Amino acid sequence: MESLINKNILLGVTGGIAAYKSAEIVRGLKKAGSSVRVVMTQSAQEFITPLTLQALSGNPVSTDLLDAEAEAAMGHIELARWADAILIAPATANTIARLSSGRADDLLSSITLAFDGPIGLAPAMNQAMWKDERTQSNIKNLENKDFSLYGPGSGEQACGDIGLGRMLEPSEIVELFASLFKAGSLSNKSVLITAGPTQEPIDPVRYVTNRSSGKMGYALAEAAVEAGAQVTLVSGPVNIKPPASCNFISVETAQEMYDAVMHHVSGKDVYIGTAAVADYSPTKVEGSKIKKDGSNESLVLEMKENQDILKTVSDKEDRPYVVGFAAETEDLLKNARKKLEKKKLDLIIANDVSDKSIGFDSEENEVTLITNSEEVLLDRSSKKKIAKRIVEFISNN
Ligand code: CTP
Repeated sequence: MESLINKNILLGVTGGIAAYKSAEIVRGLKKAGSSVRVVMTQSAQEFITPLTLQALSGNPVSTDLLDAEAEAAMGHIELARWADAILIAPATANTIARLSSGRADDLLSSITLAFDGPIGLAPAMNQAMWKDERTQSNIKNLENKDFSLYGPGSGEQACGDIGLGRMLEPSEIVELFASLFKAGSLSNKSVLITAGPTQEPIDPVRYVTNRSSGKMGYALAEAAVEAGAQVTLVSGPVNIKPPASCNFISVETAQEMYDAVMHHVSGKDVYIGTAAVADYSPTKVEGSKIKKDGSNESLVLEMKENQDILKTVSDKEDRPYVVGFAAETEDLLKNARKKLEKKKLDLIIANDVSDKSIGFDSEENEVTLITNSEEVLLDRSSKKKIAKRIVEFISNN
Protein backbone atom coordinates (compact mmCIF):
# COMPACT_ATOMS: atom_id res chain seq x y z
CA MET A 1 0.00 0.00 0.00
CA GLU A 2 2.88 2.31 -0.84
CA SER A 3 0.48 4.55 -2.73
CA LEU A 4 -0.88 5.90 0.57
CA ILE A 5 2.52 7.22 1.67
CA ASN A 6 2.49 11.00 2.31
CA LYS A 7 -1.17 11.34 1.38
CA ASN A 8 -3.56 13.63 3.27
CA ILE A 9 -6.69 11.60 3.90
CA LEU A 10 -9.90 13.02 5.28
CA LEU A 11 -11.97 10.28 6.89
CA GLY A 12 -15.68 11.07 7.20
CA VAL A 13 -17.48 9.03 9.86
CA THR A 14 -21.28 8.98 9.81
CA GLY A 15 -23.80 7.56 12.24
CA GLY A 16 -24.13 3.81 11.93
CA ILE A 17 -23.27 0.92 14.22
CA ALA A 18 -20.19 0.24 12.06
CA ALA A 19 -18.74 3.61 13.19
CA TYR A 20 -16.79 1.78 15.88
CA LYS A 21 -14.74 0.19 13.07
CA SER A 22 -13.57 3.65 11.96
CA ALA A 23 -10.90 3.45 14.67
CA GLU A 24 -9.35 0.53 12.79
CA ILE A 25 -9.58 2.43 9.49
CA VAL A 26 -7.69 5.38 11.01
CA ARG A 27 -4.99 2.99 12.22
CA GLY A 28 -4.79 1.29 8.82
CA LEU A 29 -4.42 4.59 6.95
CA LYS A 30 -1.77 5.85 9.39
CA LYS A 31 0.12 2.57 9.16
CA ALA A 32 0.14 2.93 5.37
CA GLY A 33 1.88 6.32 5.73
CA SER A 34 -0.98 8.81 5.39
CA SER A 35 -1.81 11.86 7.49
CA VAL A 36 -5.40 11.48 8.67
CA ARG A 37 -7.97 14.07 9.74
CA VAL A 38 -11.38 12.88 10.87
CA VAL A 39 -14.71 14.64 10.37
CA MET A 40 -17.68 13.18 12.27
CA THR A 41 -21.37 13.86 11.81
CA GLN A 42 -23.53 14.57 14.85
CA SER A 43 -24.96 11.04 14.97
CA ALA A 44 -21.57 9.36 14.48
CA GLN A 45 -20.61 10.78 17.87
CA GLU A 46 -23.36 8.64 19.47
CA PHE A 47 -21.46 5.53 18.35
CA ILE A 48 -17.79 6.46 18.91
CA THR A 49 -16.21 9.44 20.66
CA PRO A 50 -14.22 12.12 18.82
CA LEU A 51 -11.55 11.67 21.51
CA THR A 52 -10.84 8.10 20.39
CA LEU A 53 -10.39 9.13 16.76
CA GLN A 54 -8.37 12.20 17.77
CA ALA A 55 -5.97 10.05 19.79
CA LEU A 56 -5.56 7.54 16.95
CA SER A 57 -5.23 10.10 14.14
CA GLY A 58 -3.03 12.50 16.11
CA ASN A 59 -5.13 15.40 14.81
CA PRO A 60 -8.12 17.31 16.18
CA VAL A 61 -11.46 15.84 15.04
CA SER A 62 -13.84 18.27 13.33
CA THR A 63 -17.54 17.96 14.02
CA ASP A 64 -19.29 21.25 13.49
CA LEU A 65 -19.77 23.53 10.48
CA LEU A 66 -20.61 26.52 12.64
CA ASP A 67 -17.98 26.11 15.35
CA ALA A 68 -16.13 29.45 15.14
CA GLU A 69 -13.11 28.10 16.98
CA ALA A 70 -12.70 25.05 14.75
CA GLU A 71 -13.36 27.11 11.62
CA ALA A 72 -10.60 29.51 12.70
CA ALA A 73 -8.15 26.57 12.96
CA MET A 74 -9.08 24.71 9.76
CA GLY A 75 -12.43 25.52 8.21
CA HIS A 76 -14.40 23.40 5.74
CA ILE A 77 -12.71 25.00 2.72
CA GLU A 78 -9.22 24.52 4.19
CA LEU A 79 -10.02 20.88 4.98
CA ALA A 80 -11.24 20.37 1.40
CA ARG A 81 -8.01 21.95 0.11
CA TRP A 82 -5.83 19.96 2.52
CA ALA A 83 -7.20 16.54 1.54
CA ASP A 84 -5.77 14.49 -1.32
CA ALA A 85 -8.74 12.14 -1.04
CA ILE A 86 -11.83 11.64 1.12
CA LEU A 87 -13.01 8.32 2.50
CA ILE A 88 -16.47 8.11 4.10
CA ALA A 89 -16.80 4.98 6.21
CA PRO A 90 -19.32 4.08 7.32
CA ALA A 91 -21.55 5.89 4.82
CA THR A 92 -25.17 5.65 5.96
CA ALA A 93 -28.22 5.69 3.65
CA ASN A 94 -28.96 9.21 4.88
CA THR A 95 -25.42 10.44 4.07
CA ILE A 96 -25.55 8.82 0.65
CA ALA A 97 -28.89 10.54 -0.08
CA ARG A 98 -27.53 13.90 1.06
CA LEU A 99 -24.31 13.58 -0.95
CA SER A 100 -26.33 12.58 -3.98
CA SER A 101 -28.48 15.69 -3.79
CA GLY A 102 -25.52 17.99 -3.15
CA ARG A 103 -26.59 19.15 0.33
CA ALA A 104 -24.17 21.28 2.36
CA ASP A 105 -25.92 21.50 5.71
CA ASP A 106 -23.25 20.00 7.91
CA LEU A 107 -19.46 19.96 7.97
CA LEU A 108 -18.90 16.68 6.11
CA SER A 109 -21.38 17.41 3.30
CA SER A 110 -19.94 20.93 2.86
CA ILE A 111 -16.37 19.64 2.62
CA THR A 112 -17.44 16.97 0.15
CA LEU A 113 -19.15 19.56 -2.03
CA ALA A 114 -16.11 21.88 -1.94
CA PHE A 115 -13.68 19.05 -2.72
CA ASP A 116 -12.64 18.21 -6.29
CA GLY A 117 -10.50 15.11 -5.74
CA PRO A 118 -11.35 11.40 -5.38
CA ILE A 119 -13.97 10.30 -2.85
CA GLY A 120 -14.49 6.72 -1.63
CA LEU A 121 -17.63 5.46 0.13
CA ALA A 122 -18.06 2.35 2.29
CA PRO A 123 -21.83 2.00 2.71
CA ALA A 124 -23.26 0.42 5.84
CA MET A 125 -26.97 0.01 6.48
CA ASN A 126 -29.82 -2.43 6.93
CA GLN A 127 -30.29 -4.73 3.93
CA ALA A 128 -33.79 -3.41 3.16
CA MET A 129 -32.53 0.17 3.15
CA TRP A 130 -29.68 -0.79 0.81
CA LYS A 131 -32.07 -2.60 -1.57
CA ASP A 132 -34.51 0.31 -1.66
CA GLU A 133 -34.85 1.87 -5.07
CA ARG A 134 -34.10 5.36 -3.76
CA THR A 135 -30.78 4.29 -2.22
CA GLN A 136 -29.87 2.43 -5.38
CA SER A 137 -30.61 5.45 -7.53
CA ASN A 138 -28.53 7.68 -5.20
CA ILE A 139 -25.65 5.22 -5.43
CA LYS A 140 -25.84 5.18 -9.23
CA ASN A 141 -25.85 8.96 -9.28
CA LEU A 142 -22.73 9.12 -7.08
CA GLU A 143 -20.93 6.46 -9.15
CA ASN A 144 -21.65 8.55 -12.26
CA LYS A 145 -20.00 11.44 -10.47
CA ASP A 146 -16.85 9.33 -9.96
CA PHE A 147 -17.35 8.38 -6.33
CA SER A 148 -15.71 4.99 -5.66
CA LEU A 149 -17.79 2.41 -3.87
CA TYR A 150 -16.38 -0.18 -1.45
CA GLY A 151 -18.98 -2.83 -0.63
CA PRO A 152 -21.27 -3.28 1.09
CA GLY A 153 -20.66 -6.91 2.06
CA SER A 154 -23.29 -9.45 2.86
CA GLY A 155 -23.93 -11.47 6.00
CA GLU A 156 -25.65 -11.23 9.34
CA GLN A 157 -26.39 -7.68 10.36
CA ALA A 158 -26.45 -5.96 13.78
CA CYS A 159 -30.27 -5.85 13.55
CA GLY A 160 -30.48 -9.61 12.96
CA ASP A 161 -31.32 -9.41 9.24
CA ILE A 162 -29.23 -11.27 6.70
CA GLY A 163 -28.28 -9.70 3.36
CA LEU A 164 -26.26 -6.99 1.66
CA GLY A 165 -25.50 -3.93 3.76
CA ARG A 166 -22.63 -4.74 6.12
CA MET A 167 -19.65 -2.44 5.96
CA LEU A 168 -16.56 -4.19 4.61
CA GLU A 169 -13.77 -4.94 7.06
CA PRO A 170 -11.43 -1.96 7.74
CA SER A 171 -8.41 -3.69 6.17
CA GLU A 172 -10.39 -4.38 2.95
CA ILE A 173 -11.58 -0.77 2.80
CA VAL A 174 -8.07 0.64 3.26
CA GLU A 175 -6.71 -1.67 0.58
CA LEU A 176 -9.41 -0.76 -1.96
CA PHE A 177 -9.05 2.93 -1.13
CA ALA A 178 -5.25 2.75 -1.68
CA SER A 179 -5.85 1.67 -5.27
CA LEU A 180 -7.28 5.16 -5.93
CA PHE A 181 -3.68 6.32 -6.06
CA LYS A 182 -2.07 4.54 -8.98
CA ALA A 183 1.67 3.95 -8.80
CA GLY A 184 3.17 7.40 -9.20
CA SER A 185 4.19 8.41 -12.70
CA LEU A 186 7.56 9.62 -11.34
CA SER A 187 8.22 6.79 -8.89
CA ASN A 188 11.94 5.93 -8.72
CA LYS A 189 12.79 9.29 -10.29
CA SER A 190 14.73 12.07 -8.59
CA VAL A 191 13.78 15.67 -9.27
CA LEU A 192 15.62 18.88 -8.40
CA ILE A 193 13.48 22.03 -8.34
CA THR A 194 14.41 25.67 -7.73
CA ALA A 195 11.75 28.12 -6.56
CA GLY A 196 11.11 31.65 -5.35
CA PRO A 197 13.14 34.80 -5.81
CA THR A 198 16.73 35.44 -4.80
CA GLN A 199 17.86 38.36 -2.66
CA GLU A 200 21.06 40.17 -3.65
CA PRO A 201 22.47 42.21 -0.77
CA ILE A 202 23.52 45.83 -1.24
CA ASP A 203 24.51 46.47 2.38
CA PRO A 204 23.61 44.79 5.72
CA VAL A 205 20.00 46.04 5.59
CA ARG A 206 19.10 46.25 1.90
CA TYR A 207 18.80 43.90 -1.02
CA VAL A 208 17.61 43.67 -4.63
CA THR A 209 14.89 41.09 -5.27
CA ASN A 210 11.84 40.40 -7.48
CA ARG A 211 8.14 39.59 -7.20
CA SER A 212 8.32 35.79 -7.36
CA SER A 213 6.11 34.19 -4.68
CA GLY A 214 7.40 30.65 -5.11
CA LYS A 215 3.83 29.32 -5.50
CA MET A 216 4.39 27.62 -8.85
CA GLY A 217 7.67 25.99 -7.77
CA TYR A 218 6.20 24.71 -4.51
CA ALA A 219 3.12 23.39 -6.33
CA LEU A 220 5.45 21.53 -8.70
CA ALA A 221 7.46 20.12 -5.79
CA GLU A 222 4.23 18.87 -4.24
CA ALA A 223 2.96 17.38 -7.51
CA ALA A 224 6.30 15.61 -8.04
CA VAL A 225 6.20 14.19 -4.49
CA GLU A 226 2.63 13.00 -5.13
CA ALA A 227 3.80 11.36 -8.35
CA GLY A 228 6.27 9.36 -6.28
CA ALA A 229 9.50 11.27 -7.04
CA GLN A 230 12.33 11.95 -4.61
CA VAL A 231 12.29 15.74 -4.59
CA THR A 232 15.01 18.21 -3.66
CA LEU A 233 13.68 21.77 -3.43
CA VAL A 234 16.16 24.66 -3.45
CA SER A 235 14.25 27.79 -2.51
CA GLY A 236 14.83 31.49 -2.12
CA PRO A 237 12.97 33.36 0.66
CA VAL A 238 9.16 32.80 0.43
CA ASN A 239 6.25 32.43 2.84
CA ILE A 240 5.13 28.90 1.95
CA LYS A 241 5.65 25.63 3.79
CA PRO A 242 7.58 23.12 1.67
CA PRO A 243 6.09 19.62 1.20
CA ALA A 244 6.91 17.57 4.30
CA SER A 245 8.65 14.81 2.44
CA CYS A 246 11.07 16.69 0.21
CA ASN A 247 14.72 17.48 0.79
CA PHE A 248 14.47 21.22 1.43
CA ILE A 249 17.38 23.63 0.98
CA SER A 250 16.90 27.28 1.82
CA VAL A 251 19.08 29.89 0.10
CA GLU A 252 19.10 33.66 -0.28
CA THR A 253 21.38 34.77 -3.10
CA ALA A 254 21.75 33.66 -6.72
CA GLN A 255 25.26 32.45 -5.88
CA GLU A 256 23.95 30.31 -2.98
CA MET A 257 21.26 28.89 -5.29
CA TYR A 258 23.90 28.12 -7.92
CA ASP A 259 26.11 26.37 -5.32
CA ALA A 260 23.20 24.33 -3.92
CA VAL A 261 22.08 23.23 -7.40
CA MET A 262 25.62 22.25 -8.46
CA HIS A 263 25.99 20.28 -5.24
CA HIS A 264 22.75 18.32 -5.72
CA VAL A 265 22.28 18.01 -9.47
CA SER A 266 24.43 15.01 -10.26
CA GLY A 267 22.44 11.81 -10.65
CA LYS A 268 19.10 13.66 -10.85
CA ASP A 269 16.62 12.58 -13.53
CA VAL A 270 14.83 15.91 -13.88
CA TYR A 271 15.79 19.54 -13.21
CA ILE A 272 13.04 22.18 -13.07
CA GLY A 273 14.17 25.81 -12.77
CA THR A 274 11.14 27.78 -11.61
CA ALA A 275 13.18 30.23 -9.52
CA ALA A 276 13.30 33.86 -10.58
CA VAL A 277 17.05 34.03 -10.21
CA ALA A 278 18.45 37.57 -10.15
CA ASP A 279 20.26 38.15 -13.44
CA TYR A 280 22.52 40.73 -11.76
CA SER A 281 23.81 41.37 -8.25
CA PRO A 282 25.69 44.33 -6.75
CA THR A 283 29.43 44.16 -7.52
CA LYS A 284 30.26 45.18 -3.99
CA VAL A 285 28.31 44.50 -0.79
CA GLU A 286 28.95 47.36 1.61
CA GLY A 287 30.05 46.21 5.09
CA SER A 288 27.96 48.86 6.82
CA LYS A 289 24.70 50.62 5.98
CA ILE A 290 24.98 53.12 3.11
CA LYS A 291 24.21 56.58 4.57
CA LYS A 292 22.77 59.65 2.86
CA ASP A 293 25.66 62.06 3.31
CA GLY A 294 24.09 64.98 1.48
CA SER A 295 26.60 64.98 -1.36
CA ASN A 296 24.83 62.35 -3.47
CA GLU A 297 21.62 63.33 -5.18
CA SER A 298 21.64 60.01 -6.94
CA LEU A 299 23.15 56.67 -6.17
CA VAL A 300 24.68 54.43 -8.81
CA LEU A 301 24.71 50.75 -8.03
CA GLU A 302 27.17 48.74 -10.06
CA MET A 303 25.91 45.23 -10.85
CA LYS A 304 27.61 42.16 -12.25
CA GLU A 305 25.90 39.42 -14.20
CA ASN A 306 25.17 36.18 -12.33
CA GLN A 307 25.87 32.75 -13.73
CA ASP A 308 22.89 31.17 -15.48
CA ILE A 309 22.05 28.13 -13.35
CA LEU A 310 19.70 26.61 -15.92
CA LYS A 311 22.23 26.89 -18.74
CA THR A 312 25.00 25.45 -16.55
CA VAL A 313 22.81 22.42 -15.79
CA SER A 314 21.90 21.88 -19.44
CA ASP A 315 25.59 22.16 -20.45
CA LYS A 316 26.53 19.27 -18.17
CA GLU A 317 27.58 16.09 -19.87
CA ASP A 318 25.37 13.80 -17.75
CA ARG A 319 22.50 16.27 -17.81
CA PRO A 320 19.03 15.51 -16.46
CA TYR A 321 15.82 16.27 -18.39
CA VAL A 322 15.99 20.08 -18.16
CA VAL A 323 12.91 22.27 -17.73
CA GLY A 324 13.01 26.07 -17.68
CA PHE A 325 10.43 28.80 -17.16
CA ALA A 326 10.10 31.87 -19.32
CA ALA A 327 8.35 34.71 -17.52
CA GLU A 328 7.63 37.22 -20.28
CA THR A 329 5.67 40.43 -20.65
CA GLU A 330 5.67 40.51 -24.49
CA ASP A 331 6.13 38.16 -27.46
CA LEU A 332 5.55 35.27 -25.07
CA LEU A 333 5.93 32.26 -27.35
CA LYS A 334 8.68 33.75 -29.53
CA ASN A 335 10.82 34.74 -26.54
CA ALA A 336 10.20 31.42 -24.81
CA ARG A 337 11.21 29.47 -27.90
CA LYS A 338 14.44 31.52 -28.12
CA LYS A 339 15.27 30.56 -24.51
CA LEU A 340 14.50 26.90 -25.26
CA GLU A 341 17.13 26.96 -28.01
CA LYS A 342 19.69 29.22 -26.34
CA LYS A 343 19.69 27.31 -23.06
CA LYS A 344 19.35 23.90 -24.84
CA LEU A 345 16.33 22.89 -22.78
CA ASP A 346 14.12 19.83 -23.15
CA LEU A 347 11.04 21.82 -22.18
CA ILE A 348 10.23 25.46 -21.51
CA ILE A 349 7.12 26.69 -19.76
CA ALA A 350 5.99 30.04 -21.08
CA ASN A 351 4.20 32.27 -18.61
CA ASP A 352 2.72 35.68 -19.45
CA VAL A 353 3.48 37.72 -16.32
CA SER A 354 1.98 40.93 -17.75
CA ASP A 355 -1.47 39.48 -16.91
CA LYS A 356 -1.76 40.06 -13.13
CA SER A 357 -4.41 37.33 -12.68
CA ILE A 358 -1.92 34.63 -13.74
CA GLY A 359 1.30 36.41 -12.83
CA PHE A 360 3.77 36.22 -9.99
CA ASP A 361 1.67 36.28 -6.82
CA SER A 362 -1.62 34.92 -8.16
CA GLU A 363 -3.29 31.61 -7.29
CA GLU A 364 -3.91 30.70 -10.92
CA ASN A 365 -1.79 30.27 -13.97
CA GLU A 366 -2.08 29.63 -17.69
CA VAL A 367 1.03 28.38 -19.44
CA THR A 368 2.24 26.95 -22.72
CA LEU A 369 4.59 23.97 -22.69
CA ILE A 370 7.08 24.18 -25.55
CA THR A 371 9.53 21.51 -26.71
CA ASN A 372 11.38 21.20 -30.00
CA SER A 373 8.46 19.33 -31.48
CA GLU A 374 5.39 20.29 -29.47
CA GLU A 375 3.40 23.24 -28.16
CA VAL A 376 0.72 22.52 -25.57
CA LEU A 377 -1.49 25.18 -23.98
CA LEU A 378 -2.59 24.45 -20.40
CA ASP A 379 -5.77 26.49 -19.89
CA ARG A 380 -6.16 28.74 -16.88
CA SER A 381 -6.41 26.74 -13.67
CA SER A 382 -5.09 26.69 -10.09
CA LYS A 383 -1.30 26.50 -9.83
CA LYS A 384 -1.80 23.13 -8.10
CA LYS A 385 -3.65 21.69 -11.12
CA ILE A 386 -1.24 23.23 -13.62
CA ALA A 387 1.63 21.68 -11.64
CA LYS A 388 -0.01 18.23 -11.85
CA ARG A 389 -0.37 18.54 -15.60
CA ILE A 390 3.24 19.68 -16.03
CA VAL A 391 4.43 16.68 -13.98
CA GLU A 392 2.24 14.42 -16.12
CA PHE A 393 3.76 15.91 -19.28
CA ILE A 394 7.33 15.48 -17.96
CA SER A 395 6.69 11.87 -16.98
CA ASN A 396 5.47 11.12 -20.52
CA ASN A 397 8.60 12.59 -22.13
N1 CTP B 1 17.62 31.20 -14.72
C1 CTP B 1 18.71 30.61 -14.07
N2 CTP B 1 19.78 31.36 -13.70
C2 CTP B 1 19.80 32.68 -13.90
C3 CTP B 1 18.72 33.30 -14.59
C4 CTP B 1 17.65 32.54 -14.99
O1 CTP B 1 18.69 29.40 -13.86
N3 CTP B 1 20.86 33.36 -13.50
C5 CTP B 1 16.50 30.36 -15.18
C6 CTP B 1 15.18 30.59 -14.47
O2 CTP B 1 15.04 29.75 -13.34
C7 CTP B 1 14.18 30.26 -15.57
C8 CTP B 1 14.87 30.59 -16.85
O3 CTP B 1 16.28 30.67 -16.51
O4 CTP B 1 13.91 28.86 -15.61
C9 CTP B 1 14.45 31.87 -17.51
O5 CTP B 1 14.86 32.96 -16.84
P1 CTP B 1 14.63 34.45 -17.36
O6 CTP B 1 15.20 35.38 -16.35
O7 CTP B 1 13.22 34.62 -17.70
O8 CTP B 1 15.44 34.47 -18.66
P2 CTP B 1 16.76 35.14 -19.01
O9 CTP B 1 17.55 34.12 -19.73
O10 CTP B 1 17.39 35.74 -17.79
O11 CTP B 1 16.33 36.28 -20.02
P3 CTP B 1 15.64 37.70 -19.78
O12 CTP B 1 15.84 38.10 -18.35
O13 CTP B 1 16.35 38.54 -20.75
O14 CTP B 1 14.20 37.53 -20.14
